[in-house]
Parts: sequence; C-alpha cells; structure tokens
Amino acid sequence: MVNFSEEFRPQLSEIFFETSTKKEFKDQKEKDALFWKYVGFYLSHYSQYAWLAVQEGKLLGYVLGMPSTQDPSLYAIQPHLPAFEEHFKTYPAHLHVNCHVDARGKGVGKMLVQKLLCQLKDQNVSGLHIMTGPTSDNKVFYQKLGFDYAVELNLILLLGIRI
Ligand SMILES: CC(C)(COP(=O)(O)OP(=O)(O)OC[C@H]1O[C@@H](n2cnc3c(N)ncnc32)[C@H](O)[C@@H]1OP(=O)(O)O)[C@@H](O)C(=O)NCCC(=O)NCCS
Repeated sequence: MVNFSEEFRPQLSEIFFETSTKKEFKDQKEKDALFWKYVGFYLSHYSQYAWLAVQEGKLLGYVLGMPSTQDPSLYAIQPHLPAFEEHFKTYPAHLHVNCHVDARGKGVGKMLVQKLLCQLKDQNVSGLHIMTGPTSDNKVFYQKLGFDYAVELNLILLLGIRI
C-alpha cells in the first residue's frame, strides 16, 4: 500500500472512468469536471489520504479520503452534500474507493478501506461515511466492513462506520 504519486495518475484515471456510470461527455471540459469532482480535488488537497494498491507497477485500486467533509471548497463542487450535514458530526470523514476490474473480489478494496480507517483512527477521527446508490450492489461490501449506519435521502444512500 503506497501513498499517491503522480506516476499513477493515468492508471487511476482509467479505473475511475471505467467504474463511472457516466460514459458520455459532451466535451473534454465536462469529462475533466467529473474527474476533478471525484478524484482531482482529493489528489490536490488531500493527497496524504490517497492510498494505492500497486503490484508490479500496475494499479489494482485506490482509495481517496478526507477527514472532514465540511469543506466549503468541496461543497462548491458536490452540491448534494449539505443535505446530509447532520450525519457529518458522527461520521465526518468520507472516501471514494475503486478497484481495477481484474482486481475485484480479491480483498484489495477491503485492504484499501482498512488502511484509511487506521490512518483516521490515529488522528482521532470519530467516523467515516460513504455515499452510493440505494440499490447498488457495492453496499454489501461496505456492510461487511462494518458500515452499520444507513440513511437514504434524495436517491443517495449514506453508510457510516464509527472508528
Ligand atoms: C466495490 C469495490 C471497491 C470492492 O472492492 P473489492 O476488492 O472487489 O472487494 P473485496 O474483495 O475487498 O471484498 C470484501 C468483501 O466484500 C464483498 N463484496 C465486494 N464487492 C461486492 C459487491 N459488489 N457486491 C457484494 N459483495 C461484495 C466480497 O465478497 C468480500 O466478502 P467476504 O469478506 O465475505 O469475502 C470494487 O469491487 C469496485 O471497485 N467495484 C466497482 C466500483 C464500485 O462499486 N466502487 C464503489 C463506489 S461507492
């Protein structure tokens, strides 16, 4: 498990767009904006919370986190966040995790989330949340990791874990 370094940005981008549900973009600007919203922002501002699973130079997966979601510069690009604010008191941190399609189901995602959880625990962060679709099958992944708090709002499912 290594911290993010620039050499992995192209592979990280590939994994991000492969996992994204949005596949069509009207122009490069729209594509870049989506990347910035869920990846670039975190790499620029919170790279110490960006962890990579790498094997022989190949990126297997990544997790991007931040310890306190209540950051106005994040709200500016993720306008769905304020509606969930009351849950950020107990679960202030959040993450985005994605694995390469060939690396799924082998424990990589679990290892990445646990790495971030350990880091946040050392910093006395009280909890962590993720957001996904209410019918998304990845919610089982988080539930198995111990995310036992769930709130659904505006077709978004927030799952939380105390640290
Ligand atoms: C979701 C994801 C990050 C999980 O990582 P992973 O490396 O495949 O998962 P792991 O192998 O660490 O799985 C840990 C446990 O969760 C389960 N699990 C993982 N993904 C699951 C899924 N989609 N549905 C049901 N269970 C799942 C595993 O079976 C495993 O269970 P076990 O402990 O009983 O063996 C990865 O599959 C992925 O990138 N998926 C596509 C993109 C995505 O959904 N990202 C999350 C966006 S919110």
